[in-house]
Amino acid sequence: MADEADRLQPELWAPSAETLETCLVKDYDALRNQAAADPLGFWEREAKELAWFEPWDKVLEESNPPFFKWFVGGKTNVVLNALDRHQNTPVRNKLAYIWEGEDGTVRTMSFHALNREVCRFANVLKSMGVNKGDRVTIYLPRVLELPIAMLATAKIGAVHSVVYGGFSVEALAERIQDSESKVLITADGGFMRGKPVPLKQIADEALRRSGTVEHVIVVKRAGLAVSMEVGRDYWYDELMGLPFARNPATHGTCKTEVMDAEDPLFLLYTSGTTGKPKGIMHTHGGYQVGISATMKYAFDVRAEDRWWCAADPGWITGHSYIVYAPLMLGVTSIIYEGAPTYPYPDRWWRIVEKYGVNILYAAPTAIRGLMRFGEAWVNRHDLSTLRLLGSVGEPINPEAWRWYHRVIGGGRCPIIDTWWQTETGAFMITPVPSLPLKPGSATKPFPGILAEVVDEAGQPVAPGEEGKLVITRPWPAMLRGIHRDPDRYVKQYWSTYPGKYLTGDSARVDADGYFWIIGRVDDVIKVSGYRLGTAEIESALVSHAAVSEAAAIGVPHELKGNVIHGFVILREGFVPGPGLVEELSAHVAREVGPIARPEKIEIVDKLPKTRSGKIMRRVLKARAMGQPEGDLSTLED
Ligand code: PRX
Repeated sequence: MADEADRLQPELWAPSAETLETCLVKDYDALRNQAAADPLGFWEREAKELAWFEPWDKVLEESNPPFFKWFVGGKTNVVLNALDRHQNTPVRNKLAYIWEGEDGTVRTMSFHALNREVCRFANVLKSMGVNKGDRVTIYLPRVLELPIAMLATAKIGAVHSVVYGGFSVEALAERIQDSESKVLITADGGFMRGKPVPLKQIADEALRRSGTVEHVIVVKRAGLAVSMEVGRDYWYDELMGLPFARNPATHGTCKTEVMDAEDPLFLLYTSGTTGKPKGIMHTHGGYQVGISATMKYAFDVRAEDRWWCAADPGWITGHSYIVYAPLMLGVTSIIYEGAPTYPYPDRWWRIVEKYGVNILYAAPTAIRGLMRFGEAWVNRHDLSTLRLLGSVGEPINPEAWRWYHRVIGGGRCPIIDTWWQTETGAFMITPVPSLPLKPGSATKPFPGILAEVVDEAGQPVAPGEEGKLVITRPWPAMLRGIHRDPDRYVKQYWSTYPGKYLTGDSARVDADGYFWIIGRVDDVIKVSGYRLGTAEIESALVSHAAVSEAAAIGVPHELKGNVIHGFVILREGFVPGPGLVEELSAHVAREVGPIARPEKIEIVDKLPKTRSGKIMRRVLKARAMGQPEGDLSTLED
């Protein structure tokens, strides 16, 4: 309730004199107004700061909406900017990554060493017949081989599809199959809370369900015994030691493929309104411009900074802000392998102190989780190096915001609450450090981004009123489509309000022009910041022999944002009981991943449906939350 009052009358946190004096953007509104008057000019200036093999002829091609093209005719490769261009500058000798394993192992890698590893691995991929445009699925724990594999794939012009290491058999199989990947890169296992997760075993099962992979490359991390199929499976370390990886003819280097600005860089699968995850496609040219500009302005990154984005490289946050943008900007990143509370609840604060982290970018669910353990765990550590904090993935509730600000940030660090999506590639609504903040608001659209909150008819709503969040102009880091499904791309994002990109979120804009994101209004559930589709959970439930029909909903949860509740109708002959409910939960976790495990499953005789047979999830949700069920006129009976 306190949070609700805050939303109605939020406090304003003004930047400190020091922040104002030292930050890059002193007048955000001026920069935003300037960019709004000439968005293409703004993005073109940002693009010119990067390296290109050949310049573009046209900044934006919009003759065939919504199939927009950016930096048309330009030739580049994101690796040219992330690695190649640092090799002749002092950045070469800086640390690109400081990696800490959950077991305390530390591994560091300079920009030079990272480039060397990437070149070697690129040669390995080539030796396996991976060509420009081919897809490579990467299913790894949070180890340095994950960015290495992504960069090597991009370097040779192939397309990576990273599958989060917390996903399981069916989710992985589906993603391999849809992307028609030739190669799978995985590990024997990864660690989570001290326990090894058997990734290779999961991958083997997924490969039995999908048929495109010719070779599997296995990184050794957990020391688990795995079965290796002769002629198909190879150890990463062995391949990296072979002569072709070092390629004496090129002194161990590998040419960075010249890519068209619009050539695909990666696919990243995300949940939508159907059971089939969408392969969101991003390209080399516009994406690199969007991510570098947003990171530079919003996080005010400095050459000497130590940047820690605590997400997983397997999500868009990791792609954009652990791998590509920080490398492009030449900053040192921290990657921590494991759980924030392992072995004790001060693990994160220990890491901040040990490495002198300057900017920490994390999800509200993690903040809320750590808040539970109290301030004493934080106060044992010197967090004075922190200058900025970031938030992403879901709305941050004002209570968590204030704790983050006061306890972690010592009251001096602005909180950069960045709203964006897998589809947007880069931050869309975000403050910069000089902007006065309102706890719980992602503040204002980034320069060059035009966002609106509209009603059902597509008209902007009055200040303070709730509506649908749309983006009214194309932006460089935008998705270019859904893999193999252009119709779904048009239908899902561009057909509700012609000419406007539909985000799937609802929001309000207050009288000061600050945006307040409320949450998803479609069938997407955010559990601990992870994005899952109701349909994915439902299809996992009905894949169990006992289930004939299923529905899944998201129910608000204090810590996780939302949790999943499932409702199932049993097939004849199956007896309801706690044993079966537990079995169904475990089945979902096995098929989709532990993050998708329903908190509760109810066995029911009937599901509320419309006359056309569509399950009315909002009715289930209202019942679960003890709220009025609303308009029931379309209910079947
Ligand atoms: O609902 C919004 C929420 O996360 C969704 C996008 O999820 P995903 O594609 O997994 O990307 C997450 C990381 C960028 C959005 O539609 N969301 C993301 N950031 C915020 C947010 N909600 C409120 N505030 C944010 N800062």
